[in-house]
Amino acid sequence: MKVLVTGGLGFIGSHTVVELQNEGFDVVVIDDLSNSSLDVLDGITAITGKKPDFEQIDLREKKAVQDFFKKYTDVSGIIHFAASKAVGESVENPLLYYENNLSTLVYLLQELQKKDQAQFIFSSSCTVYGQAEKMPITEDAPVQQAMSPYGNTKQIGEEIINDVAKMSNINAILLRYFNPVGAHESTEIGELPKGTPQNLIPFITQTAIGLREQLSVFGNDYPTPDGTCIRDYIHVVDLAKAHVTALKRLVQAKNMDNVEVFNLGTGTGNSVLEVINVFEKVSGKKLSYKIVDRREGDITEAYADTTKANDVLGWKAELPIEAALESAWKWEQKVRSK
Ligand code: WQD
Repeated sequence: MKVLVTGGLGFIGSHTVVELQNEGFDVVVIDDLSNSSLDVLDGITAITGKKPDFEQIDLREKKAVQDFFKKYTDVSGIIHFAASKAVGESVENPLLYYENNLSTLVYLLQELQKKDQAQFIFSSSCTVYGQAEKMPITEDAPVQQAMSPYGNTKQIGEEIINDVAKMSNINAILLRYFNPVGAHESTEIGELPKGTPQNLIPFITQTAIGLREQLSVFGNDYPTPDGTCIRDYIHVVDLAKAHVTALKRLVQAKNMDNVEVFNLGTGTGNSVLEVINVFEKVSGKKLSYKIVDRREGDITEAYADTTKANDVLGWKAELPIEAALESAWKWEQKVRSK
């Protein structure tokens, strides 16, 4: 069985392809290279010694998706990462997000529906919870009114999958990521944000290496111990391994619902200032930062209840935030040394 990884040259996608290959899966990658590059394919190959099949396809082209499945008839499992994911951009250009994140999902599911049985893993996000009432956040926390079109596409995507899986032979797992960070220990692959990083960790590493003047900390007047927001930062390699565990569960498909949801986090929350402190310790660099106003749309606190992922999925995050930040720093130094 060949596994299709869409967005497989992206940050989480590439780390997942490595772990799939490590577990002996035969992988084909689709990526449109809008937010990645073919160097990532070389990085994956350098780590595993196996070059995955690769097709450069824009999944918004329905015919191209259909042609892909005519060529790769043995694909019955999909791990779907390909999507636009910048919260701010989605507010400025909602239709780009609804087209790119939803029409592509429909075209892929239409192809899977033709199979006798199929597996689908969806890259979702804790953003669907908005600001959850209770910490840590469990999977039955209510899905709240999305704070952005990006978040809305994740919610709608989950609903589409639930509707389709109910009436077809597709078994699906929805993985709600908390905050993926870090890089593979080999420094062959890592996070490659285009332009000014929106996320905290790449901004920290780019500041530490001198690419950015100073980190702006978006607010220290939140109702948290040190006033800065709390998040659950999960090592991207742990996150990648969770996808392999989920795929194995779907392939066995014993006593499982046809759609299952799992929160993927470490179960520990860290504030922005705590992350800065840990980064300074593991890198030995003093980080220049200043406190500025809050960022529109940020929630105060989010960290995962990992019970269901541990007990039902049989997966647990192993790597601490120190390891994640150290790997992110090593990766930044490698990228800038080129
Ligand atoms: C983390 C904390 C910021 C940058 C988003 C998406 C989520 C997922 C991950 C895609 C917040 C603070 C950040 C900076 C800062 N994306 N911060 N200065 O917002 O929790 O999650 O990215 O799948 O869906 O919502 O992550 O890294 O942007 O911010 O102070 O320059 O760091 O305020 O408290 P976030 P983030």
